[in-house]
Amino acid sequence: MLLTGKSIVVTGAGSGLGKAAAIAFSKEGAKITVLDLDEAAAKCTADKINANGGEAMYQKVNVADKGSVFAAGEAAADTFGSIDVWMNCAGVSKILPFLDCTEEIWDLTLNVNLKGMFFCCQSAVMHMLKNDGGVIINMSSQSGKKAGAQYQAYCASKFGVIGLTQSIALEYAQQGIRANSICPGVVQTPMWDKQIADYARKRNLKPEDVMPYFCKNIPMGRVCSYKNFTDMAIFLASDKSEYMTGQAINLTGGSLMH
Ligand SMILES: NC(=O)c1ccc[n+]([C@@H]2O[C@H](COP(=O)([O-])OP(=O)(O)OC[C@H]3O[C@@H](n4cnc5c(N)ncnc54)[C@H](O)[C@@H]3O)[C@@H](O)[C@H]2O)c1
Repeated sequence: MLLTGKSIVVTGAGSGLGKAAAIAFSKEGAKITVLDLDEAAAKCTADKINANGGEAMYQKVNVADKGSVFAAGEAAADTFGSIDVWMNCAGVSKILPFLDCTEEIWDLTLNVNLKGMFFCCQSAVMHMLKNDGGVIINMSSQSGKKAGAQYQAYCASKFGVIGLTQSIALEYAQQGIRANSICPGVVQTPMWDKQIADYARKRNLKPEDVMPYFCKNIPMGRVCSYKNFTDMAIFLASDKSEYMTGQAINLTGGSLMH
């Protein structure tokens, strides 16, 4: 096991990629703090980990609320003694024409995806400095490196995540804190279930033709699996990646090469 005894906080762990990462980290021996705005979903992930012989606690958190984030960080450190890894998966996404993007949609997207990540990274760094280091993993996206039309707020937030992560990596490289981001293409999570109709409208496709359309345009001919993603998350969380910091790693089946 690659993460035995490590205390790992995962935001957005009630659904999709955060949930998959939390479960995968637990199978590698880590103790997990499951954070999500959706308390019932967070409980469900923690219950699943505990029922499978792992160790998890959960807390409702709104990552866009600094007090909520800092309290969750304290609770994680109190429960498990430290925070060794903090993975930021909480996120929102909306596909819509530029002129239809309201101030509310812009603010929600930037507040959750970027300001929320800033608060979470601050809490992570404060705790990791007490332990002589740790690992931060931030969810960016292929949309953090290459913009898509009708994806203005999301792309702005995900480009921002890469800059935030690089700045933290540089500032704390000598103190043993590594910070990297992951840039997946498409993983079929509840986030995609919710936005597939909007993507279909954007491309003038039927919703059922969206995933085949993606596959046709990806060099490897398929979207990213949960396992492809959790393998990368485990690698970044573990000492196997101990010389890597400030990276923004593509998981795009060859679609992006920079
Ligand atoms: N699925 C993909 O194809 C894909 C690709 C690239 C990047 N990503 C990124 O990966 C991350 C996870 O995406 P997913 O597909 O698992 O999405 P998802 O919608 O399945 O899960 C997101 C989780 O974040 C939680 N959340 C939302 N707002 C929150 C808040 N204010 N505070 C705390 N929790 C909050 C939700 O309740 C949900 O449980 C996101 O940052 C997303 O942008 C996803």
